Amino acid sequence: VRLVVLVSGTGSNLRALLDAHDDPAYGARVVGVVADRPGIGGLDHARAAGVPTAVVQVADFGSREEWDAALAKAVGVFTPDWVVSAGFMKILGAAFLARFGGRTLNTHPALLPSYPGAHGVRDALAGGARVTGATMHLVDAGVDTGPIIAQVAVDVTDDDTEETLHERIKVVERAMLVEKVGRIAREGLVVDGRRTRIGAVA
Ligand code: GRF
Repeated sequence: VRLVVLVSGTGSNLRALLDAHDDPAYGARVVGVVADRPGIGGLDHARAAGVPTAVVQVADFGSREEWDAALAKAVGVFTPDWVVSAGFMKILGAAFLARFGGRTLNTHPALLPSYPGAHGVRDALAGGARVTGATMHLVDAGVDTGPIIAQVAVDVTDDDTEETLHERIKVVERAMLVEKVGRIAREGLVVDGRRTRIGAVA
């Protein structure tokens, strides 16, 4: 199964997928990495692993729609079966979802539907949550609103800062992502409205 990973930052989730894909039994391979900005760690991880990359920057296009179409085109070059948004900090638009909706996975550092958006960790702390975590879900047209596939909980400690909490979340987030992406690649994903199940269609 061919994976394209979308990144905007350090790319530790990408790194974990690259570590896993060397094992043929994993069932999925990262065949391309697409970023919305140059000079980020995620692109370095891809290059170090010999995986081709593309950068599609909003600033290079006249409108958000043109950028979105160009992003879809850049991803399509790699003919992915699944797209994994792993720390990609842009909303995917209509053109992208027309092509890859239903097979684009996202990971979010909070227990959705609580604390969606760009600051899930900060917002959970500010909200006084005692438990937060990470969610893997299918991408739809909303912001972190698509059908949930997997979640892992993380306790908030009294002395947590956004940084310490995010680091603990990222540890479980990476493990969840690697395990579930592999299982989805090998077994498939069934979606029934808001409910999802990993496994073949009965
Ligand atoms: C992850 O926690 C992701 O959910 C969030 O940003 C972080 C990305 O980390 N949106 P990395 O770039 O994979 O290291």
